[in-house]
Amino acid sequence: MRAKQQRLYINIDHVATLRQARRAQEPDPVEAASICEGAGADGITAHLREDRRHIQDADVERLKKSVRTYFNLEAACVAEMLEIARRLKPQQVTLVPERREEITTEGGLDIISEPSRIKNAVEALTDAGISVSLFIDPTRAAVEQSKKLGVPAIELHTGSYSQAPHSSKTIDALRDSARRAADLGLAVHAGHGLTIANVGLVAAIPEIEELNIGHSIISRAVFVGLDRAVKDMHDAMHAARSS
Ligand code: PXP
Repeated sequence: MRAKQQRLYINIDHVATLRQARRAQEPDPVEAASICEGAGADGITAHLREDRRHIQDADVERLKKSVRTYFNLEAACVAEMLEIARRLKPQQVTLVPERREEITTEGGLDIISEPSRIKNAVEALTDAGISVSLFIDPTRAAVEQSKKLGVPAIELHTGSYSQAPHSSKTIDALRDSARRAADLGLAVHAGHGLTIANVGLVAAIPEIEELNIGHSIISRAVFVGLDRAVKDMHDAMHAARSS
């Protein structure tokens, strides 16, 4: 299969994490989004968590007004977030699982045991003109269930791969799930735990059209600047894609 162009969406949550450490005004995630766009990011991702530990309601309002590329809001599948999303109307909502005590999004959505809850959410968001993606574990069962739930896109959780990038099992699961999703007509996104060092194998999967990357880019930005960190990630992706 000929690889489609691959988009890089930057997750700017951890700019807000730093700001919230002081409950101060800076650094501003909206300013970060604009620098990312200037450095070539194809989209901006932000996760409004129920506990508001980093991104705040006012941030998503401002991002919706200021993002010039594409705004992907990550949200839990709960009434409060669905209401905010339907009012805000970002171009895309990625539904993610959320547990208050977790440090970050630990696994994919449980779409098997509560399909009607997810299906209702997908319908409500779609009716509001929002494109919906489901953040799922890289398994055939999850991909096939996503198709049944009526979404146009899925995001494959790359967390297991990022923890064991040299195991053929973790990358094969991503390759196989991506292929199955594309065969079913789903757009394939991926993300979590990707870094310049491990992004290559994932970027090279031809069906994957979009990567969502946050922590490693914001971390590198502390040392090399945000503009450089975004450009370096783009370069690493494109080198893998074209080799
Ligand atoms: N995709 C989803 C659905 C996420 O929840 C996250 C983390 O917020 C990411 C991608 C980005 O992960 P990381 O910050 O590890 O790059």
